[in-house]
Amino acid sequence: KEKATGTSYAKIIFFGEHSVVYGKPAVAIPLYSVDVSATLERTVIGQTIHCRYFDGPISQMNDNLQGVRVLIDRLLNLFEANELSFRLTIESKVPAERGMGSSAATAIALVRAFFNLFEKPLSRLELLTLADIEEKITHGNPSGLDAATASSEAPIWFIKNQVNEQIEFHRSNLCLVIADSGIKGKTSEAVSLVHNNLIDEPDMAMPLIDQLGQIATTARQALADSDQVTLGRLMSQSQTDLAKLGVSTKALDQFCQIAITYNALGAKLTGSGLGGCMIALAKNQRDAQIIATKLRQAGATQTWIQSFKNYEFT
Ligand code: PMV
Repeated sequence: KEKATGTSYAKIIFFGEHSVVYGKPAVAIPLYSVDVSATLERTVIGQTIHCRYFDGPISQMNDNLQGVRVLIDRLLNLFEANELSFRLTIESKVPAERGMGSSAATAIALVRAFFNLFEKPLSRLELLTLADIEEKITHGNPSGLDAATASSEAPIWFIKNQVNEQIEFHRSNLCLVIADSGIKGKTSEAVSLVHNNLIDEPDMAMPLIDQLGQIATTARQALADSDQVTLGRLMSQSQTDLAKLGVSTKALDQFCQIAITYNALGAKLTGSGLGGCMIALAKNQRDAQIIATKLRQAGATQTWIQSFKNYEFT
């Protein structure tokens, strides 16, 4: 082929952030409207990349894109195409450093673009293994949750170092509002905060971690049953637990409050906390629009609405 594209999605954690670090299950979902596309075109000369951080020859890419560069080298080796002349354009709607898996989404789109260009079949395992090359360089010790979700069409059931499977949720009638607080999520800081809490106050923190894990398990069933009321209740319970662990912020608490005031069935922070995003479960599209507007008025820098209504698991 002369030209090929690969795509992927942003991820958000629906249930199980923080407790997933301690071996509990998590449920993460791809955000279909927040996507990444990587387009690879054969050219006559040069190897160039065009993305929001860099525009020019691959060889001159800055150090913070090292993961992407190493992954491209690996893909060129894999296809015995080190001499290939190409232009790679990456278009991403995923905001950086908001816990939405921006780097993993880029890696997934990139791998898919190469396999499409060379018309080679790509297994899910191979896709995740290749994306992990970039994620290891960018994040050190990634759990794999971001890449698993970025490459999925369905919610993901995830247990660290164990399973990563797509969850069936036949035509769940979910309508989620996601709001960005505009503040960078501080993943390592939040993870150490919870860790310190577990050491200093295990009687307080351990039951919260256990409960967050239990919530994810109950949520899986609620997703399968399309039981929105239960899902909403579980979201708000998660938010209470996460706030007790110390990872919520005033802005995130306020966003949750606003969502509930405007009829959301539940709301919680998503991802590491100490910044980043909030998600709320709205009863319908109309409520979702209202909640999103109110959240923007309260300072959300960006909002998204995701409806799963017409989604069918295949
Ligand atoms: O920052 P995010 O959205 O990738 O979320 C981190 C999730 C944590 O559970 C807090 C940490 C982890 O490594 O799973």
